[in-house]
Amino acid sequence: MEVLRWQLDAGVDETIGDEPLNHFAAPPQPEASAGLAKPPVKVKASASAENILHDACAAAANAGTIEELKAAVAGFDGCALKKTATNLVFGDGNPKAKIVLIGEGPGAEEDRQGVPFVGPSGLLLDKMLASIGLDRDSVYISNTVFWRPPGNRTPTSGETALCLPFVERLMELIDPEILITLGGPAAKAMLAETAGIGRLRGKWYTYSTPKLSRPVQATALFHPAYLLRSPDHKREAWHDLLMIRDKLDQVS
Ligand code: URA
Repeated sequence: MEVLRWQLDAGVDETIGDEPLNHFAAPPQPEASAGLAKPPVKVKASASAENILHDACAAAANAGTIEELKAAVAGFDGCALKKTATNLVFGDGNPKAKIVLIGEGPGAEEDRQGVPFVGPSGLLLDKMLASIGLDRDSVYISNTVFWRPPGNRTPTSGETALCLPFVERLMELIDPEILITLGGPAAKAMLAETAGIGRLRGKWYTYSTPKLSRPVQATALFHPAYLLRSPDHKREAWHDLLMIRDKLDQVS
């Protein structure tokens, strides 16, 4: 078990056999047995990406509360990340908060505890929030994907797309005043922008879905994990936090 855990932490997400497999070789033919040909085995077509996305949208739309949404995510098997993760990391904080923060995806510690931002970057995030008078009771925190990508890689666009209907529904159910994305991938997914985080940060955008009562003011912050690696950028992050504090004072 320990070896398996070590391999998962190291990013292993598939196993291979000892012998190579030739996928181009003709499949073995059934033996002709005295005229009793077996009927062809019907192989159920695997669910297409479109069907899986449709299921995700339907399940998300059906949820009328955060608890129902969490149950819908827990029961959704369409995202491959679920297979390698230990726990679902749905969200944390106050479902009535005026601010929603969306990160990239759970890391190792989050995967172990089933709670977002509880590892080293979470500690910095808590300090960043405290610096403008916020804490986990005054915000709601989630991610663009609900399961840890193996080895902490960036979620693929497919994984993000399959989780997005649930994240959008989360936004509709909380109906916050302000959305803050953390890091480039979350900004791109939520704000539908293509520029890098260095260009996206420090500005206001609007985030809407058909069911939101009004567009939500949105902005992008550097990811705390990036700030831990590149502390030189904390100055810009501080500027951005003050900008968020100002906006919050205007809307409350
Ligand atoms: N990084 C993220 O983007 N999300 C988490 O929950 C933890 C680390």
